[in-house]
Amino acid sequence: MQVCRTISDGRNTVATFRQAGESVGLVPTMGFLHAGHMELVAAAKARADRVVVTIFVNPTQFGDASDLDSYPRDEKRDLQMLEAAGVDMVLIPEVIDVYPEGDETIVETTRMANMLHGLVRPGHFRGVTTVVARLFNFVQPDLACFGEKDYQQLQIIKRMTRDLAFPIEIIGVPIVREADGLAMSSRNVRLNAEDRAAALIISQSLNAAEALTDKTVESLRETIAHTINSEPRATIHGLDIVQAETLNDISGVLTSPAAIMLSVEFGGVLLLDQRVIQP
Ligand code: PAF
Repeated sequence: MQVCRTISDGRNTVATFRQAGESVGLVPTMGFLHAGHMELVAAAKARADRVVVTIFVNPTQFGDASDLDSYPRDEKRDLQMLEAAGVDMVLIPEVIDVYPEGDETIVETTRMANMLHGLVRPGHFRGVTTVVARLFNFVQPDLACFGEKDYQQLQIIKRMTRDLAFPIEIIGVPIVREADGLAMSSRNVRLNAEDRAAALIISQSLNAAEALTDKTVESLRETIAHTINSEPRATIHGLDIVQAETLNDISGVLTSPAAIMLSVEFGGVLLLDQRVIQP
């Protein structure tokens, strides 16, 4: 496994894959890898000859410096996991290379970035699209894998890829869950034992919504809110039910797939989950 710490080193390594006629799959990450990331790696491996993973804690997608500083990091462990998974190249660029001195270029989906989770995290999705566009440009993969857990992020990246005509297939990879149903996330390690147990209410609420026979936007919302509010440690920050591709508002009986996007706080830790419900 090649570990590249400069963009030019990364490009040279990808060029050797290309010279051999091999396809390249990219998995962008911010490190501190867990089974959810490894699922993205497996999805890329299943579809491309070579897998490239980037590890870059992107400062432009964090609202405040303390969140950035407290973001968990463990490069040694990440590299061991990636090597064991058969990854071909890891790119770990420096902030100054991704955002060079005097940098002033941004990439933003102007509507989708400024709705839903974007309203509570202003600038977050602009930071994501700005860095992902740069990572796409550094690696120039044939395909790139992103988790469906960050559903709004996935739809935004699909939109950006279409708008900028990147010749890259975007693969959405289903959520990986702990055995008890909690969606895997680097943030889970920040939950204390009581909040970790209480957090199961999130997947339980989505199961209850999916089991409804009469599926309207209103009945889905009511079922989820009622279930989560029965858990005193949980505070709902976002409960959005939107058209699955455009993220537009919908109401009444479902006529096309709907995405339920949930963000729920437990003791200062915000957890995300999501489910697409068929009409
Ligand atoms: O989902 C993430 O880990 C990040 O938002 C991403 C896509 C790697 C961009 O920094």
